[in-house]
Amino acid sequence: MRPTRALLSTGLLAGVLAAGMAVALAPTASAGTTLRASAAEKGRYFGAAVATNKLSDNTYVTVLNREFSSVVAENEMKWDATEPQQGRFNYTGGDRLVSHARANGMSVRGHALLWHAQQPSWAQGLSGSALRNAAINHVTQVATHFKGQIYAWDVVNEAFADGGSGGRRDSNLQRTGNDWIEAAFRAARAADPGAKLCYNDYNTDGVNAKSTGIYNMVRDFKSRGVPIDCVGFQSHLGTTIPGDYQANLQRFADLGVDVQITELDVMTGGNQANIFGTVTRSCLAVSRCTGITVWGVRDCDSWRGSDNALLFDCSGNKKAAYTSVLNALNAGGSNTPPPTTPGSPTTPPPSPTTPPPGTGG
Ligand code: XIL
Repeated sequence: MRPTRALLSTGLLAGVLAAGMAVALAPTASAGTTLRASAAEKGRYFGAAVATNKLSDNTYVTVLNREFSSVVAENEMKWDATEPQQGRFNYTGGDRLVSHARANGMSVRGHALLWHAQQPSWAQGLSGSALRNAAINHVTQVATHFKGQIYAWDVVNEAFADGGSGGRRDSNLQRTGNDWIEAAFRAARAADPGAKLCYNDYNTDGVNAKSTGIYNMVRDFKSRGVPIDCVGFQSHLGTTIPGDYQANLQRFADLGVDVQITELDVMTGGNQANIFGTVTRSCLAVSRCTGITVWGVRDCDSWRGSDNALLFDCSGNKKAAYTSVLNALNAGGSNTPPPTTPGSPTTPPPSPTTPPPGTGG
C-alpha cells in the first residue's frame, strides 16, 4: 500500500508519512523482486542446495545471498562427508555452510542423516547390529553437533522402492530390520528436539504406489507417536508434472505433517518455466507447505549436467523459469492478513481467476 499523490503533496503530512512508511517498509523493501522476499511475504522460505567450494565464487554468492533464504548442503552433511572413518567426524563443510547461513539470515535444512547412497566405505562393509548401532550413533552424533542450527533434517532419505510395490528399497540399512527408520527418527529427536524431522524421497510427485507407501508409513508413525514432523518431496522433474501434484502434497499435510519441496529441478524445454510455476503455486496452495528448495543455483551448478534444470543460467542471469516462480510467489498478494480496523467493511478476497494487476508482494 502506498500513500496517495494528494496526501504526498501536503507538506508536513507528507514528511511524517514518508518517515513512517520508510520504517514500516524497510524489512520488506525488496518484496516482489527477489525469491526470498516474495516467499517471505507468503510465510515461506525459498532455498538452494549449496556446494561450499562455490562460496568463493562471487557471481554464485551474489545470487545466493540476494535470492535465497535457506540453504542445504549438496553433499557436505552426508554420511561419507561427516564420518569418513568410523567414530571420526568431520564437520568442516557443514560448519562452513551454517556460518554462511547465519551471516546472511538464512535457515538451514540438514541433508541427510541416513541414506543407502554416499555411505563411507566402512559402513558399506557392516551389517546387522554393528551397522544398526553405527547408523544410530551417526544420527546422534551429527544431530548433536548441529543442534540448534537446523530448521529441518532429512533424517532418512530415499528408503522406498521405485515401481509398483509401494514397499521399502532393499539396502544394507533395510536389512538391519524394518524398524531402522523409526529408530533413526527417535535418535534424531533425542539429539536435537528443536529440529523438524523429515522423511525425504523422489518419484513422489503425485499419488502413486511409492508415495502411497510413504504415506502409509507416515500415518503409522503418527498413530504410534514416532516423532516425524515433515515429508520432503525432492521433485527432480522431467518435462511433465503429474496433475495431482498439489493433491498429493495436501494428503500428506492432512496427516498432520509439514511438507516441503526439497530438491526441485526441472528438465529444460518448453514446459520448464510452467512446471516451476506449477510447483510454486502448489506449495502456496497447501498451508502446511513451508518452503521450496531448488537443487543448485545456476544451470552449471546442477548435478543434472546438460538438463539446464535450474532458475539461473551459467552467468547468473535470471531465466524464464525464475520469472515464472517469482510471479507465482507474488500472485494474489500477501497471505499475512492485514491488521483490521474494528467495524471497517470486509473486503472480499480477489477472484482466483482474475488476480488484480500490480498487487505483487
Ligand atoms: C547429489 C549431488 O547433487 C551430487 O553432487 C552428488 O554427486 C550425488 O548426490 N537425491 C538426493 C541428493 O537426495 O542428495 C542428490 O544429490 C540428488 C538426488
